[in-house]
Amino acid sequence: MAEVAQRSEPKKLSDFFSLADARVDRWRSLLRVTRSLAGDIKGFDASPQQAAALLAELAPLEELCAYPGPRLVALVHERMKNGDWAGCARLVQRISVALLDNSYRDSVEPWRSDDDAEPRGVDILPPTLGRGSARKPYFEVLVVVPAPRSSWQELSTAWRRLRRDEDAYLYEVVVTGTLEDAVLATLFNYNLQAIVIYDGFGAHSSNADQVLRDILEPYMSKVDLESRADLGTTLERMVHRIRPELDVFLLTDRDVGKLAGTDEAAGIRRMFYGVEELLEVHLAILDGIDDRYHTPYFDTLKKYAQRPIGTYHALPIARGKSIFKSNWIRDMGEFYGTNLFLAESSATTGGLDSLLEPTGNIKVAQDKAARALGGDRCFFVTNGTSTANKIVHQALLTPGDIVLIDRDCHKSHHYGLVLAGAQPYYIDAFPLPQYSMYGSLAIKPIKQALLRLKAEDKLDKAKLLVLTNCTFDGHVANVKQTMLECLAIKPDLIFLWDEAWFGFARFSPFLRRRTAMGAVAELREMMADPAYRQRYAQFKAEVGDIDPEDPTLLDRNLLPDPDKVRLRVYETDSVHKSMSALRQGSIIVVADQEFHRIEAPFKEAFFTHTSTSPNLQIIATLDLARRQMELEGYELVNRAIQLAIELRREINNHPLISKYFRAATPAEMIPGEYRQTRYADYGAPGTTFKDAIKALDEDEFFLDPTRITLLCGRAGYDGSQFKALLASDYDIQINKTSRNSVLVQININNTRSDLAHLVKVLADISRGIERRLAEGGDAERQALSARVKNLVEDVPDLPDFSWFHDAFRDSAESATAEGHIRDAYYMAYDADSCEFLKLASPEIDRRLDSGPEMVSANFVIPYPPGFPIMVPGQVINRETITFMRKLDVKEIHGFVASLGLKLLKPEALARLQEGAAKAEAERKVPVASHKAASHSHKVPAGSHARK
Ligand SMILES: Cc1ncc(COP(=O)(O)O)c(C=O)c1O
Repeated sequence: MAEVAQRSEPKKLSDFFSLADARVDRWRSLLRVTRSLAGDIKGFDASPQQAAALLAELAPLEELCAYPGPRLVALVHERMKNGDWAGCARLVQRISVALLDNSYRDSVEPWRSDDDAEPRGVDILPPTLGRGSARKPYFEVLVVVPAPRSSWQELSTAWRRLRRDEDAYLYEVVVTGTLEDAVLATLFNYNLQAIVIYDGFGAHSSNADQVLRDILEPYMSKVDLESRADLGTTLERMVHRIRPELDVFLLTDRDVGKLAGTDEAAGIRRMFYGVEELLEVHLAILDGIDDRYHTPYFDTLKKYAQRPIGTYHALPIARGKSIFKSNWIRDMGEFYGTNLFLAESSATTGGLDSLLEPTGNIKVAQDKAARALGGDRCFFVTNGTSTANKIVHQALLTPGDIVLIDRDCHKSHHYGLVLAGAQPYYIDAFPLPQYSMYGSLAIKPIKQALLRLKAEDKLDKAKLLVLTNCTFDGHVANVKQTMLECLAIKPDLIFLWDEAWFGFARFSPFLRRRTAMGAVAELREMMADPAYRQRYAQFKAEVGDIDPEDPTLLDRNLLPDPDKVRLRVYETDSVHKSMSALRQGSIIVVADQEFHRIEAPFKEAFFTHTSTSPNLQIIATLDLARRQMELEGYELVNRAIQLAIELRREINNHPLISKYFRAATPAEMIPGEYRQTRYADYGAPGTTFKDAIKALDEDEFFLDPTRITLLCGRAGYDGSQFKALLASDYDIQINKTSRNSVLVQININNTRSDLAHLVKVLADISRGIERRLAEGGDAERQALSARVKNLVEDVPDLPDFSWFHDAFRDSAESATAEGHIRDAYYMAYDADSCEFLKLASPEIDRRLDSGPEMVSANFVIPYPPGFPIMVPGQVINRETITFMRKLDVKEIHGFVASLGLKLLKPEALARLQEGAAKAEAERKVPVASHKAASHSHKVPAGSHARK
């Protein structure tokens, strides 16, 4: 009961996510109480008042759900009233089990009361839901009506009577009478797939208690409900802000012909005049589901697999005959099953479309994915976001272009820039040295870089900004604010948001605003809004033209000119990282108003990087992942966030575990200057749901709750050791490590049992540490504290990007930091231009003191931290050497300890510079050199870009 009482206190973000489960918990509590009253539980005294109070608490949420529905709830009431506690407990058990395992979605049984001998026809039960391929997926439809409550039961029955055997899906309706209740149902009823609105309904809920009101408020605040007579289109907008994938139908007495053509009605799937065609509405609802359910490529592939096809092409694995008849690899067939081989093909005929030139079902599948993710167009990529990123770089960039980029971003970007011949302008993210990781790239240094480029008249060349959102460790950018401020300086800057980890966020109303496509939608609305024009006019009057020398611009929010802005945004998602796609399934989502201008280069780039033998299963699962997310992404993502918040709470509040481990909070992962609202933790005492929403809207960075940095340094483990321990002794796989942490990632696949397993393992390990300390005495304690100090306090400073050597810069005098990375990269292909220096060699210290500068010949990427601490052409400074010498990780890409650091020889660099100077003197473009034409105006050393 304490649990129940607690839930009525002011709401935190965690409570929002757990509300759907709190409902189930309350049914479980009611079961305990009724069983006690029936005399089934000894030693637990309960009163009828407790039972009544629990049922009353359940009432507002029950009204928003079709199961158990008014009939079964009324029966519970009746049995309570009659003191039939045994009957009551039986019924409550049936309901709570069905809610717990969702069996009411698959079976007719939970819909019966325990004394229903047989199903009683359409007025009570859904028809048989079916099994296997005959299964009809179940969903619910919200019907919002102005009619009195007394008529709702009759209305539900009328809707049920529309069901036909040939319907592919089955739904129950939930009737409600106000806008507030409809919004609450949208938030909490995971089964909802469609909303039918009869215009003329009321505004305010009479059911919502304070808890629900707190949750509603952020969704209601911008609307003046009293000023509008018909709230149908207002409700549509609110619903779609929460769940854009839901179908909304409007039945209205207004002039539908006129209304249908207005912007106001753009989000309505179909409009009907009054109640004249209920069967049509029913068919339209099923059609809407079909549109989301239909997976054009997967469906075709399934059909293809079932046909008796003779294959005479270069793919022996197709049809599986070489496997199932084999003497030696038959287990391959047994393991994978027949369908995998039947569905293997190299054909782009027979109904199967071509990924390289899609005109049929792949094209349709991509268009649906664009819809689901909020973009204008979408491209499937079967070789991971590593390739998706390279495609975007190559499509958008030409040699010499400047790209502002987080040095800490995924290596595919660095290699993409080498391939494109563009000049990276590296900007460092804020560091978190205590965990040996970088955070994310703040807005201010990006603005600073753009202003410097403007001051040197180089904005024309600055084409692209590349940012990671969210980062590996969960730092989520304020995407809208970042784009606004950059566009104020360069109105046609293109953005590439690497959302490899973050695709799922589209399906959360909380995180969506912080995705690239979520922000594009807001910016499009904003740029078209007259109120924004006024804001801009005021800004312009105060600030005038953007003056790159004005230092105050760094500290104020800049606004772009709505008449000049060109919104050009690209998002790449590793669908396989956060949704149900096979490994390497990735997509590029595009919202670029100038796409027509780069369509041809985009195609070339796609051809460059895409295999002519793309994996059909990956394409099919991209299609399926889209279907799943459009139909149940909201529920799955909500549950994943809830689980993550619970796991964080269990770890940090556990008296033993928290002595050695900690789930790093937003306050620990994001410095205060980037948390303007001071938001500190998802469930911190005193913080409410509204605080979380405010932080999501306003803070420069937010921490994705599903990415948990589990600090293990105080347990005496470094990240790699702890990862190995979890894998070897506990069968737990985790993703990434840092010096003193591992990253625990919760996704749509995790369950409450996974949470319990991890908590139990952490408790076991903590107990083990306690035991060792108790048995080992002082020596053991000292050893642990020395180890902890080494891991937690003696952390090396992270080396920021130094600078490109002058040989790779257009001007050593320039205050901007870009450099010709490709020239350096290819210079290293010539062995005579390279030398090696062992890391421990005193020669390194001598050269650091008195030169000549050491210049990296290649990328050096240690894991962890996983970002390049050296890139080709970068001058190696003392910070980098110190970091390398302290680094105790085994895996360092681009560095072979026995050879040492691979450097570009000073003579080779001098030759390159002489060549450039000569070319400059002769005022002609250098020949037979990797150096770009733009590289020819070099001046002597002394770069302002150095730190
Ligand atoms: C930020 C980021 N972008 C891109 C990638 C590459 O994605 P994929 O594994 O799909 O090739 C990764 C991989 O870890 C990543 O962390």
